[in-house]
Amino acid sequence: MKKKYPVIFHLLILSFFFTCTSNFSYAFANGCITAACHSNLDKTKFVHGPVAAGECAACHGDSKDHAANPKKSRFKAITDVGKKCYECHDTLEKKKKTHAPVQDGECTACHDPHGSSYKFQLKKEGSSLCFDCHDDSIVGKKFVHGPAAVGGCVACHEPHTANFDKNLKAKSPELCYSCHTDKADMFKNAQVIHPPVEEDCLNCHNPHSNDANFMLPAAAPELCFECHTDMKEWVNNVATKHGAISQGKSCLNCHEAHVSAIPKMLAKPPMDLCLGCHDKDRVTTGGVTITNLKKLLADNKDHHGPIKQKDCSGCHNTHGSDNFRMLRAYYPSTFYAPFSMHNYGLCFSCHEESIVKDPETTTLTNFRNGKINLHFKHVNKPDKGRVCRSCHETHASNHLKHIRDAVPFGSWEVPLNFNKTNDGGSCLPGCHKIKKYNRAKMEINE
Ligand code: HEC
Ligand code: HEC
Ligand code: HEC
Ligand code: HEC
Ligand code: HEC
Ligand code: HEC
Ligand code: HEC
Ligand code: HEC
Ligand code: HEC
Ligand code: HEC
Ligand code: HEC
Ligand code: HEC
Ligand code: HEC
Repeated sequence: MKKKYPVIFHLLILSFFFTCTSNFSYAFANGCITAACHSNLDKTKFVHGPVAAGECAACHGDSKDHAANPKKSRFKAITDVGKKCYECHDTLEKKKKTHAPVQDGECTACHDPHGSSYKFQLKKEGSSLCFDCHDDSIVGKKFVHGPAAVGGCVACHEPHTANFDKNLKAKSPELCYSCHTDKADMFKNAQVIHPPVEEDCLNCHNPHSNDANFMLPAAAPELCFECHTDMKEWVNNVATKHGAISQGKSCLNCHEAHVSAIPKMLAKPPMDLCLGCHDKDRVTTGGVTITNLKKLLADNKDHHGPIKQKDCSGCHNTHGSDNFRMLRAYYPSTFYAPFSMHNYGLCFSCHEESIVKDPETTTLTNFRNGKINLHFKHVNKPDKGRVCRSCHETHASNHLKHIRDAVPFGSWEVPLNFNKTNDGGSCLPGCHKIKKYNRAKMEINE
């Protein structure tokens, strides 16, 4: 059925026609937006400049036919939209990389040529504009980066042209520093910077979203193991594993991820780290209660050399080891052991091994009676050799040479009663008789 147009419509067309013929472009345009035709084109919140000025012809060209008979005659399609836009917007910066739709002149994929509810006449707001063409799974993981979550894609990406790959405004880390200014100062002035941090934040962080907190692919230790594969091998295969790695923040209990003032990216000076956790008795996975080292060191004033140097790692491998108590080298766990040099690999990594090798000496050790080397005598025995522990505390004691207070004998602690003199010393272990040694004049013990 043929539709009937009201009289007013015909009058309108006529008035169009007359005004248009005199000064086509201007007059026709003025007449394009009317109650009946294209009435909403200039009613959007953000109207494009030429549309607001009524300059339809600037883009659509002139069409007397359309003005004369809008139903029958259509405007010619704009064949090259991009070219059209560039006629007025020749200032769009030319940079090294051009976003594909811009390259293809598809300005109207993102901009409405007439106007829209969004600034810059964008067709959609924030990331929904981008997700018309890109997969929104990039922000679909559990932890989403602040600006990506709120649609701030263009905070990092140029919509048109850019000097960096992936249309980025800058390269990481500079890109990241542009907002994380506190990090910029901190990282650039740090004494020790983790090499992957200096190189590129994206070595660890995803700029959009990721499975673990802080947009990381995984939490420590897995994150660290991705690059530190030797450490992964080691930690996963050692016999004695350190609780410090399997609990809390794992590697980050001791290491900083980015920068540190201390070598090896440590969070605190090494001994403070250890004593920060070993400030109470702890129980190993094997169910053994281990000493409160902080208290032990506070209560016993004669600290072993490496501890004076605040170096627990001289003896312990903090990442675990195959030896008892995570020691760096073998050391028996007992008070007695048949002699072998292997037993004392730990002590002799720093001390002269000759102290237990020669039966007689006048120089190798002060623990001698005349020429008789008492270290040899006690330690170097095929059956019941005394392990160093029988006489020396490993960490600290209140006696010189950190000699022990007592040795356990069943459930009884037998006091050693060590007494040091200028030329030697003596001990009175439990119910035994006093035993003396003197380097200058050999003592005869019963
Ligand atoms: C900056 C250039 C530009 C100006 C100015 C402009 N247009 Fe458009 N117009 C376009 C483009 C581009 C299209 C989409 C055409 C295409 O895809 O080929 C379009 C499409 C249209 C359409 C088709 C329906 C639609 O909305 O897609 C109408 C109707 C229209 N314009 C009317 C007008 C009128 C009326 C004016 C003046 C008030 C005007 N235009 C001003 C560029 C412009
Ligand atoms: C006839 C000239 C002309 C053409 C053709 C033209 N524009 Fe514009 N455009 C303008 C004017 C004038 C403004 C208003 C500038 C202002 O407000 O500073 C403008 C503003 C804009 C703005 C907003 C800029 C701002 O800073 O707010 C965008 C986006 C835009 N145009 C996109 C386009 C696109 C896309 C095309 C092609 C479809 C196009 N323009 C074609 C003249 C033109
Ligand atoms: C992929 C989407 C997209 C395409 C395609 C696109 N733009 Fe834009 N354009 C944007 C976005 C987003 C902004 C707003 C940028 C901002 O907020 O800083 C913008 C802003 C603008 C502006 C105003 C700010 C400025 O940079 O001057 C103009 C003018 C403009 N675009 C013109 C064009 C022209 C011309 C084309 C085609 C050659 C085009 N755009 C293609 C997304 C696009
Ligand atoms: C009209 C479709 C379209 C829209 C809308 C669009 N893009 Fe693109 N974009 C593409 C195409 C096509 C490519 C090139 C193909 C590709 O590499 O995936 C591309 C490439 C990219 C690239 C580079 C990818 C690479 O591997 O080099 C980035 C980054 C990008 N777009 C970001 C955005 C952002 C941010 C927005 C929103 C402001 C956006 N895009 C909107 C179509 C679009
Ligand atoms: C904090 C800065 C930042 C924000 C915000 C951001 N991106 Fe990216 N985007 C990047 C970086 C950096 C890359 C390059 C990643 C790479 O090379 O591995 C990238 C890459 C891309 C790529 C290429 C494909 C890929 O995953 O490598 C697309 C597409 C993309 N971004 C789209 C978006 C969209 C859409 C948004 C908004 C939801 C957005 N980006 C927000 C920084 C950002
Ligand atoms: C446009 C500004 C901007 C840029 C560029 C930017 N960020 Fe962010 N970033 C933020 C904002 C905003 C937050 C959210 C802050 C908050 O929640 O406290 C954030 C949060 C983060 C967080 C999580 C912090 C937390 O406490 O949860 C990390 C990690 C992060 N950004 C890393 C990066 C990296 C890596 C880059 C470079 C690829 C980068 N950012 C670039 C603005 C930015
Ligand atoms: C070696 C991996 C790695 C690299 C590379 C890296 N980060 Fe991180 N980042 C982390 C880890 C791990 C955390 C979590 C720290 C924590 O739990 O104590 C983190 C947390 C953050 C946080 C949020 C927590 C905070 O400290 O404020 C921001 C912001 C951040 N990183 C920014 C950056 C920037 C910027 C870069 C590049 C200059 C960067 N990161 C490079 C591993 C990395
Ligand atoms: C993207 C790879 C990468 C990731 C992930 C990574 N690192 Fe590193 N790390 C390196 C590189 C490269 C070096 C320098 C070469 C080396 O010492 O192996 C290094 C060095 C170190 C150093 C020694 C610094 C020195 O002064 O000798 C420590 C400690 C360290 N990383 C700890 C960690 C911890 C803890 C994590 C997990 C939070 C981690 N790393 C994650 C690549 C990585
Ligand atoms: C984050 C807390 C934490 C820090 C820091 C820490 N430890 Fe531990 N450590 C533990 C826990 C928990 C245990 C007991 C459970 C276990 O052995 O797995 C333990 C056990 C030990 C053991 C006995 C291991 C065994 O099973 O025989 C030694 C030795 C040790 N730590 C030395 C150190 C040294 C040296 C440092 C400093 C480099 C240190 N620890 C730092 C938590 C910590
Ligand atoms: C109990 C504290 C502690 C924990 C937990 C810890 N480290 Fe360490 N790490 C240290 C100390 C102390 C050093 C430096 C002394 C040394 O060589 O042992 C170090 C050194 C390193 C080094 C430098 C290379 C080397 O052997 O000297 C790397 C790499 C490293 N750690 C990675 C890790 C990784 C990865 C984790 C988690 C699986 C981790 N650390 C957990 C304390 C710790
Ligand atoms: C000279 C080597 C050496 C140094 C240095 C050293 N340890 Fe030990 N540590 C040992 C030996 C050996 C054992 C096994 C028990 C023993 O013989 O006393 C041990 C045992 C431990 C134990 C388990 C205690 C128990 O009750 O079984 C902890 C915890 C410990 N050390 C922590 C530390 C800390 C923390 C430091 C630094 C303050 C440190 N060690 C420095 C050699 C050392
Ligand atoms: C990491 C190196 C290192 C290891 C391993 C080590 N020591 Fe020491 N030891 C020292 C240093 C350094 C001194 C202090 C020397 C000084 O003050 O002249 C010292 C001092 C001593 C002293 C006191 C010597 C004196 O003259 O005051 C005894 C006893 C001792 N160590 C026994 C041991 C025993 C037993 C072991 C094996 C369980 C051992 N040490 C493992 C470095 C080590
Ligand atoms: C039977 C007790 C006893 C045993 C077992 C023992 N020591 Fe000693 N050690 C001493 C005494 C006592 C001194 C102090 C000598 C002096 O200065 O008068 C001493 C001194 C030392 C010294 C200081 C330098 C020196 O030789 O005078 C070192 C180092 C040392 N011992 C290491 C060891 C090591 C390593 C072991 C195990 C292989 C060990 N000791 C086993 C009793 C013992």
